[in-house]
Amino acid sequence: MRKLTQAQKDRIEELIRQMTLEEKIGQMNQESPSIVGGFTVPFGELIEMLTDGRLSKEEFGKIMSESKQDYHEDDIRAGRVGSLMVQDPAKVNELQKIAVEESRLGIPLIFGLDVIHGFKTVFPIAIAEAGTFDPDLMKKTARMAARESKAAGVSWHFAPMLDIARDARWGRVSEGPGEDPCLASAFATAKVTGLQEGESPDDPYVAACLKHYIGYGACESGRDYNTVNMAMHVFYNHYLKPFKAAVDAGAQTVMAAFNDLNGIPCTVNKFLLRDILKKQLGLPGFVVSDANAIRECINHGIAADDLDAGVQAALAGMDMDMGTGIYKNQLQKAVEEGKVPMEVIDEAARRILSTKMWLGLFDHPYVDEEAMHRYDVLPQEHLDLALEAGERSIVLLKNEGDILPLDPSAKISVIGTLADQAEEVVGAWALSWRKEDCVSLWSGIQKEFSKAKYFPCGGPEGSMNEEEITEAVAYGDVIVAVLGETIAMSGEASSRADITLPGKQHQILEKLLESGKPVVLVLMNGRPLALGWEDAHVPAIVEAWHLGIRMGDAVARVLSGKKNPEGRLSSSFPAMTGQCPVYYNHPNTGRPASKSKFTSRYLDAPLDSLYPFGYGLSYTSFDFGNLNVRDQGDVLMIGVEVKNTGKRAGTTTAQLYTQDVAASLVRPVKELKRFAKVTLEAGEIMRVYFELPKNELGFFDNEGKYRLEEGLFRIYVGQNSRECLCQPVELKF
Ligand code: NOJ
Repeated sequence: MRKLTQAQKDRIEELIRQMTLEEKIGQMNQESPSIVGGFTVPFGELIEMLTDGRLSKEEFGKIMSESKQDYHEDDIRAGRVGSLMVQDPAKVNELQKIAVEESRLGIPLIFGLDVIHGFKTVFPIAIAEAGTFDPDLMKKTARMAARESKAAGVSWHFAPMLDIARDARWGRVSEGPGEDPCLASAFATAKVTGLQEGESPDDPYVAACLKHYIGYGACESGRDYNTVNMAMHVFYNHYLKPFKAAVDAGAQTVMAAFNDLNGIPCTVNKFLLRDILKKQLGLPGFVVSDANAIRECINHGIAADDLDAGVQAALAGMDMDMGTGIYKNQLQKAVEEGKVPMEVIDEAARRILSTKMWLGLFDHPYVDEEAMHRYDVLPQEHLDLALEAGERSIVLLKNEGDILPLDPSAKISVIGTLADQAEEVVGAWALSWRKEDCVSLWSGIQKEFSKAKYFPCGGPEGSMNEEEITEAVAYGDVIVAVLGETIAMSGEASSRADITLPGKQHQILEKLLESGKPVVLVLMNGRPLALGWEDAHVPAIVEAWHLGIRMGDAVARVLSGKKNPEGRLSSSFPAMTGQCPVYYNHPNTGRPASKSKFTSRYLDAPLDSLYPFGYGLSYTSFDFGNLNVRDQGDVLMIGVEVKNTGKRAGTTTAQLYTQDVAASLVRPVKELKRFAKVTLEAGEIMRVYFELPKNELGFFDNEGKYRLEEGLFRIYVGQNSRECLCQPVELKF
């Protein structure tokens, strides 16, 4: 793990001594280019509009090329800007030159951007990639994103997004690693390592920015930006875990969440920022607010005005202001009036300089403008990794009668407008891709299936063409229905109150099924959908998420059987929206759901999720047996036999869960502790071992104290969180 040398630390202290108050505050100010000259929407909002589909890439490009932009050159020159969001290498150099050569102390800028699941090479959205259960792969995709963005001068990624999310109505479930803290922690470690550590000394690296700290995914009723109330034991045991793993892996920076947590917005929450994040976890770098969040504290009703909001944020340990200008305009006055001590400003400036130093920006502030041309045509290695990540993220949800894989010479009708929209494959929060790199499902399927024909028929936005449906049904021996959500239906500000298939897609499916022809439903979406009806009626269902630039190839290869699916769900899927939030690691109630009426259940919904966390099928089948748990003192050695009982090679994920049966706090019914991918030839048997240190069987109480309590535990191993073998063990510590 890269650390600052003493000489670098001394250099920072020397700078702190030389800096004026205004220059220190300047470091705490992040700007975005603002559009000037008749265009009133701030740049941040333009990016949001681009991301949520209100603006097409073409329209965005037009606005950018036609409008004059203010890059805050004068402020940079005066040392009043610490960071900017820019991704054009020439612009990066131009602005950096002003900072380095024309500002009094020559402190370089740090350029940050939302590089969430790839830069030019877009990989699967995080909820999908987490389902590979493969940290090596997660690390590789982060590594590639770091190399690509660094070539554009972007050395700070607002990623990984580590929000545990249990409510699929929340649009941002797409951006994070799902509902489980153990999987999310593995994801966190892999991403931070991939971003921050090169494979050789001159392999480019960037600084990670963990977000959104914290509890954002627990927004009430899944409505974006909504309030969050959470018991502290849930905070420590679930939501904090991936952040801790990421800081342990060396993560440099953190972005605070928009929401309040138990009444105090994260932006001004001293307990969260100073006590937990900086003191307890030991964050080495700095904390940035989310966009406009300092000012939004006025809306939260916790700050009277800009000055008050800025003072509260600074005192709480918020080091950098994203986009409001409140620090820039108010902090000097606040310090002069004694509202904010100088040490607070010093600490923030020191932390920001330290990340810049860690990135090597003082010695290498500029980017080689030619470097980005390496990616004018994406290298084969990048295309291959995008394909690998794509196909390994696909989850086979249902395959009745082994309809899949399909015969490559079969007459296939491909339907659904999503299938032919290359730009829909990238998913939410992808900003730097090119359309020509994106493979739509239809173009991928054509390569694998010579007799495939395309009939749009309709899509998520409400269209339905009955004539095309009739033609599709008449032509195909099999119908591949590509349905789901547009990019704009998940991601930020895209919560949905009804998470069934949007538009008339349900009717389209009904009509296809009426024909009696076999239907394969391929889902493109950014969240778990409520698929109760589809599961009951459609024989084969493939969850393909938004898989990035090679999506079409990845899906086609799974449909043809060239790739045997191995992805698992990183989030439970409800049968109906009203079950949300539904998650496997829920606490025990006094009346666990059962057929009996007086239990914790709905009268009109199934007792459990439709597809549980960790679930996913294969074209082969696996059997788990002979679970054995040995107490070896400090560790439990857990062995299980995994057999490929089908007719072809395949990969499954062995999942180890535990349950503390009687504890001083109500504990989850199951908690993932370890997982292992197992690839077996047909008929092959392998014994898989997990070593579990017994001290991992404790939990945090409401005061944040870790407790290890002896007594009865259940050890579960299985292919998903529902179907497990179980062995009880009595443990002493
Ligand atoms: C708002 C989003 O919440 C956050 O995830 C993103 O990094 C920032 N804006 C910057 O674009």
